[in-house]
Amino acid sequence: MGASFYSHFPKLLVTLISLTFFLNLSSAARPISPHPSTEFIKTSCSSTTYPKLCISSLSTHANLIQTSPKLIAHTALNVTLATAKATSVMMVNLSKSQGMKPKEVEAMQDCLEELSDTVDELRKSIGEMGQINNKGSDFGMLMSDIQTWVSAALTDESTCSDGFGGKAMNGKVKTTLRLKIMNIAHLTSNALALINRYASIHG
Ligand SMILES: *[C@@H]1O[C@H](CO)[C@@H](O)[C@H](O)[C@H]1NC(C)=O
Ligand SMILES: *[C@@H]1O[C@H](CO)[C@@H](O)[C@H](O)[C@H]1NC(C)=O
Repeated sequence: MGASFYSHFPKLLVTLISLTFFLNLSSAARPISPHPSTEFIKTSCSSTTYPKLCISSLSTHANLIQTSPKLIAHTALNVTLATAKATSVMMVNLSKSQGMKPKEVEAMQDCLEELSDTVDELRKSIGEMGQINNKGSDFGMLMSDIQTWVSAALTDESTCSDGFGGKAMNGKVKTTLRLKIMNIAHLTSNALALINRYASIHG
């Protein structure tokens, strides 16, 4: 069986790849040439530290982003905020669930405080992002605020994750939470890179 399997393998692979390609195309009813926004998102994301996550988190918003450096930065902040909020809710739920030791709950509550700061900082950044290009707004000042807050959010996330370092936390829960927080930190880092990119193009 071995020889014939391996001799058919390349053909099988090609068939699978074409099938996947065809299904992708047909399910999204995309035109053959890539959407300009999809290309724009790819190019913009290549300047971030986590380009794959950047593309996957933003490509569903391609219609909104178009090819605007401002809108991609704004959308990245929105996506990061939504993810941080969802993780917060999940953690509150988890900390209330049965079988949590007091030490675990304590570690989670510390982390939740940092996450809540993160959410505030992202909200404020999004608020100022919306004021850019308003009459009389100072681009440099708004940008500097946004960069400061998003950097602070990044620090808070890493503090939150560090809180799980001790032996207090159950291994599986710790791993899950760390991954969730890491995901938020990576989204935040990407958003900051896109903000810096926008600032340098605009300025
Ligand atoms: C970001 O979220 C706000 C509030 O939900 C929404 O009004 C705005 O259209 C979003 N902007 C972008 C660029 O995603
Ligand atoms: C949190 O718990 C509530 C009530 O038990 C539930 O409805 C909700 O889906 C949970 N949310 C998450 C993100 O786990």
